[in-house]
Amino acid sequence: MNILLLGSGGREHAFAWKISQSPACDTLFVAPGNAGTAEIAENVSLKITDFDSIASFVKEKQVDLIVVGPEEPLVKGISDFMGSDPRVSHIPVVGPSQLGATLEGSKDFSKRFMQRNNVPTAAYETFSADQLEEGLAYLEKQSLPIVLKADGLAAGKGVLICETLTDAKANLKEMLVDAKFGDASSKVVIEEFLTGIELSVFVATDGKDYKVLPEAKDYKRIGEGDTGLNTGGMGAVSPVIFADESFMKKVEERIIKPTVDGLAKEEIPYKGFIFIGLMNKDGDPYVIEYNVRMGDPETQAVLARIDSDFLKMLEAMGIGTLADYELSISPEFATTVVMVSGGYPGSYDKGFPITLGERNENAILFHAGTSRNSDGDLINTGGRVLAITGLGKDLNEALGNAFDGVGSISWEKAYYRKDIGKDIQKLYN
Ligand code: AMP
Ligand code: GLY
Repeated sequence: MNILLLGSGGREHAFAWKISQSPACDTLFVAPGNAGTAEIAENVSLKITDFDSIASFVKEKQVDLIVVGPEEPLVKGISDFMGSDPRVSHIPVVGPSQLGATLEGSKDFSKRFMQRNNVPTAAYETFSADQLEEGLAYLEKQSLPIVLKADGLAAGKGVLICETLTDAKANLKEMLVDAKFGDASSKVVIEEFLTGIELSVFVATDGKDYKVLPEAKDYKRIGEGDTGLNTGGMGAVSPVIFADESFMKKVEERIIKPTVDGLAKEEIPYKGFIFIGLMNKDGDPYVIEYNVRMGDPETQAVLARIDSDFLKMLEAMGIGTLADYELSISPEFATTVVMVSGGYPGSYDKGFPITLGERNENAILFHAGTSRNSDGDLINTGGRVLAITGLGKDLNEALGNAFDGVGSISWEKAYYRKDIGKDIQKLYN
């Protein structure tokens, strides 16, 4: 098969790494890719939202499968576009329809979907700009803290947890009336605050059947001890000790099955990944959000634990034969530590040469914000630069391998969190 993979992050390098291991892979193209994908695939300078150029490329290069990494092209309707362009309409796309992608593109849509399908989630109400007064009155009746969510995509910044009523009221007004998050906050979901431990659950589906991939926990804040600003993600561990058989059974029965059945029943075309962000509240799972793609950096840990042919799974998702696919998961631990440019998630300097030292084979390197300068040197070009996934028979060994790997890499002002996995380590004692 010839495959076109869209995206340029660590998630896509991990996809490319796994796809290229498959005996079924002939040529793998990555658009636009990064310096890491360039070593195992052919990078193509296509814009991931230029659907017409992507369709031309797919036709010209006889691509057999399109795999979409990030949410943006999905929310903009890439699957529907390809499905209705006669040049490429027969080529399977791994990634949901535009309507399916609305599960991530609109918080209000996803809350209503959950309600219709009896998926446990926090209590909520949605308000638009002309309902500010009703929204303020609703806030008066809620307990604190309270969560305000911009309805649309806001680059991961649209969720505010407010500790006081004054703060909540001021933020609601700024979001609805002063367009704090632009169009994204023209509607706001006001939601009950859930207390517990978060977990990321990943599901592959062809719209009828599903496979549950390894779960993971990610570390969103920039600072150690989960302090400071939110980032795209600073690390991940898989498996997660509290996601035991009985908890995951609840997740499957109460969340995964009703979600996949709901998509089918409501005729929402969905061949792709569902990333369920959930809260374990006293042993019961509640959905915080759906994403319509894999997580980054969770993917760099999750895929490292998949033993069966990943490309074959993607193909089965795209053509609707997932029921026949046998997923095999390794009992090994995988832990990912992300190295970022100093200053991220604020402003940071780019273009520093990166030195890669010797690593052992249980520390896998994934690139994200990297490229090569005119001398061919590897340089940082983004906030999140590299991710190192350590493998091991237990959490300690996996973390040891990840941090050894990190220690072999350097560039000016590089930063990483030294406490990835430490909270989970404590749960073992
Ligand atoms: P989201 O952008 O929906 O992933 O939300 C960002 C983060 O806000 C989540 O990862 C949670 O840590 C937190 N969060 C969102 N909704 C809630 C909630 N209802 N209760 C508690 N924390 C929440
Ligand atoms: N790591 C969280 C995300 O990919 O959204």
